[in-house]
Amino acid sequence: MDKIRIFATCDIGQAALDRLREKGWEVEVWDQFEAPPYEVVLEKVRAGVDVLITTLRDRVDEEIFRTGCGKLKLVAQDAVGYDNIDRTAANRYRIPVTHTPDVLTHATAEFALFLLGSAARKLWPSEELVRTGRWKTWHPYLPFLGVEVTGKTVAVIGTGRIGKAFAGKCLGLDVDLLLYDARPDLQFSSRLAKLAEERRSLGLALRTCRVEYVGPDRALREADFVSLHLPLTEDTRHFLNRERLGWMRREAVVINTSRGAVVDEVALAEALRDGRIAGAALDVFETEPLPLDSPLLAPELKEKVRVFHHFASGTVETRLSPDPDRGMAGRCVQAVINLLEGRYGGDPGRMPWVVNKEAFRD
Ligand code: DGY
Repeated sequence: MDKIRIFATCDIGQAALDRLREKGWEVEVWDQFEAPPYEVVLEKVRAGVDVLITTLRDRVDEEIFRTGCGKLKLVAQDAVGYDNIDRTAANRYRIPVTHTPDVLTHATAEFALFLLGSAARKLWPSEELVRTGRWKTWHPYLPFLGVEVTGKTVAVIGTGRIGKAFAGKCLGLDVDLLLYDARPDLQFSSRLAKLAEERRSLGLALRTCRVEYVGPDRALREADFVSLHLPLTEDTRHFLNRERLGWMRREAVVINTSRGAVVDEVALAEALRDGRIAGAALDVFETEPLPLDSPLLAPELKEKVRVFHHFASGTVETRLSPDPDRGMAGRCVQAVINLLEGRYGGDPGRMPWVVNKEAFRD
C-alpha cells in the first residue's frame, strides 16, 4: 500500500502534527511564515497527497477538488470558519471537509468582550498618552473620558456558539442583551434571562437585565455596542452595510471578531468619519492583512478605530494544544485520524467536525 501523504499549508503546531507522524504517515509542512501560493497547493494535490491541512489563508476551490478527485481523501481546516473552501465543489467530488468548532469558542468570545472594553474605555489612547509623555496631570475629564459598559445595551448579531458564549460573558457586566439571529434559539434566551434574574436576586446586579431576540433593525437602533458573530455566507456578506450603519446610534461601537466581509468597510469608515457612529474594534477585515491604505487606517480615525491581526482565537491553548478537546490543532489532526483510520464506520457523514455531511448521505 502507498504511504499516506499529508500536506499542511502551515505549521499548525509541532505537538499536534507529531500525532500524525507517530502513525507512520508522511507529513510535509509548508515551512514559510506566509501561505503557499495557490499553485503550490494545487501541485501537491496533483502529485497525489491524501490529506490537505489548510488554514483560512488558503483558497480551496473547484480546481483543487477536481484535481484531487480519486486520491484526496480529506481537507482538514485548522479553523472554525471555512468560507475559503468551496463546499459545493467538495460535495460534487464527495471529499469531506472538516473544521475545528467549539475549542475556540471561549477564546474568541472573551476577545470580543475585551475589544468592546478597549474601545469603550479608550485603553489604547490612554496607553499612548503615557508612552508619548503627553500625560501632564490627573484631571477629572481631560484629555478624554471613556464610556462605562455596565448597564448599557449590547446587540449580539449571530447567536451560534461564539455569539452565545459572548452573550453569556456580557451578562457579568449587567448589560441589556438584544440578540439577533436568522434562526433564534428561544431556549437559550430564556435560560439567559433566568440567569439575569438570578444575578439580581443574589444582589450581584442592581436590576434584572433584559435578554431578548429582536429583529436586526431594533438590535442596531438600540444598542450601544454591536458585536458581530456571523459566519460569512452569501446572505451575510456586507450584513452591516451603509443602510444598517445608518440605523445605529451616534454613540454606538461596532465589534467584529467573525469575518471582515460581514461589514462593508468603506461604509463603516464613512460612518466613523462623519460621526454617525462612535467607534469600531475590529479583529477581521475584508482583505487580510489589512492594507495600509485601508480607509479604516486613515489618520483621522485613529482615536475611533482599534485594529487587531485576526487574533481572537490566538491563545497558546486554543491554537496549539494537541488535545482534540482543547486546541484547534488537536481537533484538526484528530479529524485526519478519524478519517484515515476509518473510525465511525468509515462514514464521514457520522464523523464529528465534518462540515459537508450532506455529501455522504445516500
Ligand atoms: C476561525 O477559526 O475561523 C478563526 O477565524 C481563526 O481562529
